Amino acid sequence: MRSKVSKAIFPVAGLGTRFLPATKSVPKEIMTLVDRPLIQYAIDEARAAGIKEFIFVTSRGKSALEDYFDHSPQLEAELKRKDKTDLLEVLRQTDMDSGAIAYIRQHKPMGLGHAVWCARRLIGNEPFAVILPDDVIAAEKSCLQQMVEAFEETPGNMVAAMEVPMDKAKNYGMLDVAEDHGNLVSVKGMVEKPKENAPSNLAVIGRYILTPQVLKNLNAKNTGAGGEIQLTDAIAQEITENRPVYGFRFQGQRYDCGSKAGFLQATVAFGLSRPELRDELLAYLRETVHMDQAAQ
Ligand code: G1P
Repeated sequence: MRSKVSKAIFPVAGLGTRFLPATKSVPKEIMTLVDRPLIQYAIDEARAAGIKEFIFVTSRGKSALEDYFDHSPQLEAELKRKDKTDLLEVLRQTDMDSGAIAYIRQHKPMGLGHAVWCARRLIGNEPFAVILPDDVIAAEKSCLQQMVEAFEETPGNMVAAMEVPMDKAKNYGMLDVAEDHGNLVSVKGMVEKPKENAPSNLAVIGRYILTPQVLKNLNAKNTGAGGEIQLTDAIAQEITENRPVYGFRFQGQRYDCGSKAGFLQATVAFGLSRPELRDELLAYLRETVHMDQAAQ
């Protein structure tokens, strides 16, 4: 088995019902934080971590995603004609090498585990990353890069992890911690979206580095929580078969862009991080808070 992580799976087949009616015609992953679609943040994070092959697991109605990563000759010609070099540079940042992206269809919405399994033939026998674009992580060093470095030092299945309030555990895969070494936590069990009695307050966030055996586990997987084939269950099987699973406490701020409140928070945070927007946005936020307080 090769040990370098050079492939990443992006499960992007979800219907995005929480963002209806927008997602009637716009894939959730194309929705923008400031001026860049969610998927661009995920791709940039993967590139920073040294990923060379990008595997999108898509579904019907996601063609806008494929177009997004295509060249746009007409637009480029027009920008060149108008001498808009700054905008051409913005476009250039979205270029992908020919053959770097592969698209696989998930024909039925059978869960995250099933989506990952759909990509099995493109992964082969090497460790791979999974990035859920809903989880946007602002960090100095990209979250996946932090994990790749940790994986090089301590090989084994690895999931990004973060403490959450206990009443939110029902929304996440939750870790049962064996030993806590700070950044790295060895895991003795995992449970997907526990309704009660979560084993700890450490939740799985949407970044994974997995060994190919997890794909084999998914082969035989039956449905789990929510009637779906769960990635969490296939990773937990590694533990029962005595192969290591680690939780990785990343450095960075995670935004849950699968929820409206999280998406809005991310929009504000990424807006504030842009020098050309910061002052105007901050003034607006201050004024709004002030008016809100005055009204109470
Ligand atoms: C997925 C995973 C879950 C994980 C979460 C992180 O759930 O199944 O284990 O904690 O992502 O965002 P989803 O939120 O897609 O339902």
